[in-house]
Amino acid sequence: MLDLILRDITLPDGRTGLDLGVLDGHIAVLGPKLAASAHRELDVGGELVCPPFVDAHFHMDSTLSYGLPRVNQSGTLLEGIALWGELKPTLTQDALIERALRYCDWAVAQGLLFVRSHVDVCDPRLLAVEALLEVKRRVAPYLTLQLVAFPQDGVLRYRPPTPGGDDAFTLLKRALDMGVEVVGGIPHFERTMEDGARSVRLLCELAAERGLRVDMHCDESDDPLSRHIETLAAETLRLGLQGRVAGSHLTSMHSMDSYYVSKLIPLMRESGVAAIANPLINITLQGRHDGYPKRRGMTRAPELLAGGVPVAFGQDCTLDPWYPLGSGDMLEVAGMGLHVAQMTGQDAMRACFTAVTETPAQILGLEGYGLHVGARADLVWLQARDPVEAIRLRAARRLVLRGGVVLAEAPRRETRLHLPGRPASTDLLR
Ligand code: FE2
Repeated sequence: MLDLILRDITLPDGRTGLDLGVLDGHIAVLGPKLAASAHRELDVGGELVCPPFVDAHFHMDSTLSYGLPRVNQSGTLLEGIALWGELKPTLTQDALIERALRYCDWAVAQGLLFVRSHVDVCDPRLLAVEALLEVKRRVAPYLTLQLVAFPQDGVLRYRPPTPGGDDAFTLLKRALDMGVEVVGGIPHFERTMEDGARSVRLLCELAAERGLRVDMHCDESDDPLSRHIETLAAETLRLGLQGRVAGSHLTSMHSMDSYYVSKLIPLMRESGVAAIANPLINITLQGRHDGYPKRRGMTRAPELLAGGVPVAFGQDCTLDPWYPLGSGDMLEVAGMGLHVAQMTGQDAMRACFTAVTETPAQILGLEGYGLHVGARADLVWLQARDPVEAIRLRAARRLVLRGGVVLAEAPRRETRLHLPGRPASTDLLR
């Protein structure tokens, strides 16, 4: 006797008419018309069941702080960083934990069960680091939180608030000692191009020394000459970090000379560096100094994919100094990526779904991710027939399961109609 059977499911790869059986928290069987019975059986009616969403790029220390102490008037990255600098000294651990936990509630409701969050280490108190490590412990039964030590003010540029205080590199290493798992950076925010390159080398060497992954905010700029991704890829090769490094944002690639990019993408592929685009945020933040035509400012996702570079789409921000909206909905992220990168072919639209599921799972190094026999029973039932329809509808998450335990359930989304001669309701499915 199984614990649960989902009858008549469709998988993201198109296989359909399958039953999925769960026993002791794992997927025990997956095949057509199972003869077995279970304590609970659900008829999925041919709708999509997928592994949980994965967000490869988020800032959980700033989430839900929108309006504190004021809103970002210019809408730029730089005012956002300045605003966060104003807010930082007033943060309390309790408030930070409360906001992060609230966001995790939203994430679970959205079927988002794996989040890589950057955490700012440019603070002598390391308050956000302590808070997010506590959040990581508390949410562990239902959400996996992977933390990146992120020197928001620049690992070389940061000046301690009191003379003689710890420098950012020391604070960053302390955060790693406390349990933060990934090395971050922000080379384009350092004072000079040279400092930016030096910061990349320093941080990659630290990651190599400690056997850690790297995820750098890299070239989040409209400056076509912001080329720190080249240094990141070269350092990855030099230090043998292939497959463990991601460049986040990479928006300057949008503005770069195409001849240069034709050399850069093969280097990224050779070095096994992954790209993480953040379409909701970068379509909003970039191009703010442009008149018209106004650049979109998202990295070259289709070209990177065609060049063999893994591309994930991240949420980045929700209700914070950089972004006034957001709800932890990775289908919204995929939909925005699809639009901004003009990825409207059938395969391209499916790649947008992969960019919020399988690809970020690889980037985070999640083991056993996916729907296969023997895997932990982590899954989401979406009210849609396939990944493209899921993106189109930002489909309702009917059921969210982790280790076979139901974390969230939502009723079918349907609207009653009162139209003469027409059906009594619609669910917007094709
Ligand atoms: Fe970010």
